[in-house]
Amino acid sequence: MAEPVLLNDQPDERRVLRRAAPHLRPHRRALIIALTVGLADSAALVAVAPLVGRATDALLGDDRAGLLWAVGVLLALAVVQLGLARAGELLLAKAGENVVRGLRERCVENLASAPLRFLESHHTGELLRRTTSEVADLASFVRMHLRNIISTVATLVFTLVVLFGYSWQLALVQLAVFVPPTMLVMRWFQRSAPGAYGGKAAAEAAVAATFTETLVVREALQSARGLPGWMRRFGRENAVAVGAARRAIRVENRIDLVSLVEGMAMVALLLVGGWSVSRGAISVGTVVVFILASRNLFDSFSEISQLVGHVQKARTGLARLLDLLSATDRALAGQEAAVVAQRSPDGHEVPLRGELSCEGLGYAYRDGTEVLGGVTLSFPVGDRVGVVGETGSGKTTLSKLLCGLYTPDRGAVRFGGVDLREISESELRRRVVLVPQEVRMVTGTVADNLELVRSAPTRAAIERVVEELGLDDWIRNLGGLDAEVGVRGGRLSAGERQIIGLLRAALADPAVLVLDEATADIDPVTAERLEHALDGMSADRTLIVIAHRPATIARLPRVVVLENGRVVKQMAHAR
Ligand SMILES: Nc1ncnc2c1ncn2[C@@H]1O[C@H](COP(=O)(O)OP(=O)(O)OP(=O)(O)O)[C@@H](O)[C@H]1O
Ligand SMILES: [Mg+2]
Repeated sequence: MAEPVLLNDQPDERRVLRRAAPHLRPHRRALIIALTVGLADSAALVAVAPLVGRATDALLGDDRAGLLWAVGVLLALAVVQLGLARAGELLLAKAGENVVRGLRERCVENLASAPLRFLESHHTGELLRRTTSEVADLASFVRMHLRNIISTVATLVFTLVVLFGYSWQLALVQLAVFVPPTMLVMRWFQRSAPGAYGGKAAAEAAVAATFTETLVVREALQSARGLPGWMRRFGRENAVAVGAARRAIRVENRIDLVSLVEGMAMVALLLVGGWSVSRGAISVGTVVVFILASRNLFDSFSEISQLVGHVQKARTGLARLLDLLSATDRALAGQEAAVVAQRSPDGHEVPLRGELSCEGLGYAYRDGTEVLGGVTLSFPVGDRVGVVGETGSGKTTLSKLLCGLYTPDRGAVRFGGVDLREISESELRRRVVLVPQEVRMVTGTVADNLELVRSAPTRAAIERVVEELGLDDWIRNLGGLDAEVGVRGGRLSAGERQIIGLLRAALADPAVLVLDEATADIDPVTAERLEHALDGMSADRTLIVIAHRPATIARLPRVVVLENGRVVKQMAHAR
């Protein structure tokens, strides 16, 4: 069997920014402008210390003009800086939000078009977490921290330039006392941070996956009293998540040691600065500049150390998101690589009506045991066939292969003589459509659910198809096309959802319709309505019904019997 592409539990975080670059490229201009404004803002902030130093020296030297000048410039600077700060924040937030928006759209698009094999190999919760909370984390990082990072780093660099400009000796003393211990503390933090945050994200994803599934299996949990076992499993995962969170906090706490180092650096500055002033080597104003600017220095360092945590989290989130994008890309590419190069993009050579056939069809799910072992069948135009077999005999699998939703591991499915792999997705969907065993619906109205087909049908088209299939009464009883169907169609029974599925299929107007009849006990009235609707399909449409109900089988002129993934019998009913 083909190995399914899988998501990484702890994806590679190296060079994550470089890998994200293609997603930043469309927003390059906006990002550069925002960055420039941010840098100007930091420069204005750093310029305050030298101006105050200048004012101090002017004051001590009785230089009135110098004092007025310094105060005037300080005032002007304050106003300009206010404007720059606001503009920088807005511009960066806007650019960042657009980047996140692009990523979010790519995620949804990729997930929606990912091969079934990929989607079925992952927990829905895990996929959801990657697309919702990971993107949300990234958005909040952009909103709250990205600007801080840029302004902090810029402030740090500008401050160092100022300090060395005033007195390189004093600057060296200060850095010597402050930087090495701070670096040691940060290194200690960073050594454990990736593992701690990565572990935390993985543990939380596992909890989220189980959490989501609690609702999915709610009936089983309540009716089969499976709750204690489920809670044990959830409890285990929860305990792992709590442990991972505590570890992350312990690692984060290491950074608090930096304040101690700051105190020591300030003491050293005052001692050495005071001594230098008394020797006449520097002015009092210079010491004032150092005191003010070293606040910038400390603040930048502690800000950076706090931001490191956020950056780490954002890196983890971004890496997981990029992993999802690249995995879905690979899964899709893998599927398309199976598509032969001479595919006809607009499907001109593929007739709109034609025979559907399969030959030597083999397919295996994850564990590698074939659930279909060489199925050969053909369905001429207008054929009406029932496929029957015990549960697990491979009927649903066959139906998905016949519609090209799975790519066969061996053998081929052909429509009008053309391998499905050579027909583009959009052309294929105009020819073969599946009404699955369990029709999925979105929250909203009946019409919302019917519009989910490719042709984006008009209201009139929907009404016409409803009438053609004799379903107007049924729709009226539901409350019309604008009736709400409840959360994910919860107000409708499985059989009724299949009628919606059938309507969707009829709107797509395919040559071949494959209906995987719901096994859930459909009430006889709904079943009959469904069968009538099927009869209403035009005669040149091939109909393949995976049938569970004897009444359905009796209505079909031909029946194929499947057993353990093999065709064991084909028979024609005398009509
Ligand atoms: N997504 C999947 N992953 C792994 N194994 C699967 C998956 N879907 C089906 N199978 C296995 O493949 C075999 C055939 O399943 P399939 O759903 O095709 O049977 P079926 O004939 O449709 O059964 P039913 O009558 O209950 O609908 C079964 O053994 C099933 O356990
Ligand atoms: Mg089935």
